[in-house]
Amino acid sequence: MESSLKKINPAIRRYIGNEILPQYQQLKGHANTHITDVIRRSLKIAENLDNINLNMVYVIAAYHDLGRLVDNETHHLESAKMLRADQTLKTFFSPVEIKTMAEAVEDHRASLPHDPRSLYGKIVSSADRSCDITEILIRAYDYNKTLHPDFTEEETIENIRLVLRGKYIPGAYGAKKMYFKNPEFEEFLKQVDDITSTPEKFYQIQTEFNRHRFASSPSAQNHKITTPKPTQLPQSEK
Ligand SMILES: [Fe+2]
Ligand SMILES: [Fe+2]
Repeated sequence: MESSLKKINPAIRRYIGNEILPQYQQLKGHANTHITDVIRRSLKIAENLDNINLNMVYVIAAYHDLGRLVDNETHHLESAKMLRADQTLKTFFSPVEIKTMAEAVEDHRASLPHDPRSLYGKIVSSADRSCDITEILIRAYDYNKTLHPDFTEEETIENIRLVLRGKYIPGAYGAKKMYFKNPEFEEFLKQVDDITSTPEKFYQIQTEFNRHRFASSPSAQNHKITTPKPTQLPQSEK
């Protein structure tokens, strides 16, 4: 990412790095890593496009989830409000650019019924799609535990499976909100489809994943799941 970051106005980078990114530390989980990933993926997409302002792409990615500090459910709107109210950004960008960036932030969520209004919105929305099955399993599990603390382990895991299938199987809303060709994402969709194919298979995979994750070793966070090849599965699990 360093090479694309070098193209960003150093003053903007300093401001975002000192004042905006540290705010994500107040959020639980992997917020900081996620934002760094979205910045990296956004700049990678933007580098191959014409007539794109990389400074805007950078700020949009850095701001897109900041509204989670206020409210998770409406965080896209809250992030946009914060961006619009940011007086420092007004010294770097024109009112039209601020408006475009705020709209892109509003449009970043996969669950919205409409496509992003600009190319900037399409870039951040695409970059926001994780291609990392490990990250998805951690986020989904933690989110479900917070949302439904009364669920049994079986209910939690089955709920995660249904949510993942509702979002990521081919044709589902999360699968559609990728506006640029991305082989890594296509591979990820296949993997989700495979591991969530039956409740039994997914239960086994998530339980095994959690066992490694919550084991006391510091390497727990680095545990990667390996998806069994269909040929390796017992007949009943196909
Ligand atoms: Fe978001
Ligand atoms: Fe995000």
